[in-house]
Amino acid sequence: MKKLRLKRGQERNIHGGSLWVFSNQIDDSLKNFLPGEMVQLVARNGRHLGIGYVNPHSLIAFRLLSLDNIEINTDFLVSRLKVAQQLRNKILPGEDAVREVFSESDQIPGLVVDRYGEVLVLQIATAGMAALKTEIVAALQEVYHPIGIFERSDISIRKLEGLEEQSGLLSGKVSPKPIWLQFAGINLPVDLRHGQKTGLFLDQRNNIQLLEPLASGCRVLDTFCYVGTWGLKAAKAGAVDVTFMDSSAGALTLAASAARRNKLADRCQFLKMDAFDGLKNLAGDQRQFDLVILDPPSFIRSRAHFKEGYKGYFDLNHRALSVLRPGGVLMTCCCSHHMDEATFRQLIHTVLRRNNRGGRIVYRGQQGPDHPVLMTMPETEYLHCLVVNVD
Ligand SMILES: C[S@@+](CC[C@H](N)C(=O)[O-])C[C@H]1O[C@@H](n2cnc3c(N)ncnc32)[C@H](O)[C@@H]1O
Repeated sequence: MKKLRLKRGQERNIHGGSLWVFSNQIDDSLKNFLPGEMVQLVARNGRHLGIGYVNPHSLIAFRLLSLDNIEINTDFLVSRLKVAQQLRNKILPGEDAVREVFSESDQIPGLVVDRYGEVLVLQIATAGMAALKTEIVAALQEVYHPIGIFERSDISIRKLEGLEEQSGLLSGKVSPKPIWLQFAGINLPVDLRHGQKTGLFLDQRNNIQLLEPLASGCRVLDTFCYVGTWGLKAAKAGAVDVTFMDSSAGALTLAASAARRNKLADRCQFLKMDAFDGLKNLAGDQRQFDLVILDPPSFIRSRAHFKEGYKGYFDLNHRALSVLRPGGVLMTCCCSHHMDEATFRQLIHTVLRRNNRGGRIVYRGQQGPDHPVLMTMPETEYLHCLVVNVD
């Protein structure tokens, strides 16, 4: 195995518990390495630091798999998967839909695995993990005994690693039609082959539960609703009517069928609209809601896009206030790890002041427990949810 030598003193990241080494920390010429090649990371003086994979095309040039000097093979992956599985079994026993592997947080950087019933959907983000695909599939079969494994590596972030998007069946059987399963107490359709992400957004599990006490008797607006998880939870908790809004017709079709399946359709309306335009239209029609949910996609793709993303969140929350009645509740989320919670709170505070409205935070949420945050890598924390009672 080739050695990858760091510049003097640059081992501090690894000693501090990060799994990443950036290209400017490396002493060797990265041209001598192939994307995804397994290497031994060594300090400037040749001391062993760990085993991982390199990508000369990526700013994150090395990702650590193990501090021990061991072979990275199916057995290694099985041992990592078993640790991840034990945690999920403990914190989310009996759940149908679970993120079983969350990349760096489970010390398998570049790999995400979601389990939907007896089917696994995996997503590979890096060349190093792509090179291990055969071993990953073998390890998943050994640990989970799934009836099928489907790949959904159709994510644009792969470009940074020089990889094409990829999706398809890797083993066994996976239904061509959406499957139905329970998530957050709602029966939901999951389109494993064509749905967004791997089929569902699993990271809001705990935050959605707050609708149980909050939504009763409310008129609710669920913007960026996807298959309707939040709005249906609100309807089930006793909301008097729920307006669902999303720009994706496919998502709204699934949301409408979920409303029927859960016998909640009589209280649900569906609007196919861009959320920014939709909020403006609703305000123009003098519509007012008691509870507004904002769960947008990430507006900040990289640090370089922070300013424009910040403006997007500001504008969105500003428009949401125009349809929220005094005394109502805003459930507002941000899933960009470039926006830390303090900055997001400050943003919401500034939007409230701009609208001459006061507010109090009644709940602060984060990503669910199957998306754990690696304490030594703040980059693994990305989701903030603020619930604000607005004057
Ligand atoms: C983060 S997901 C929301 C997930 C959903 N709340 C859930 O928990 O399942 C973002 C959703 O926003 C939709 N979307 C993206 N851009 C949009 C826009 N400009 N206006 C309305 N919907 C949009 C996507 O189709 C997707 O369903």
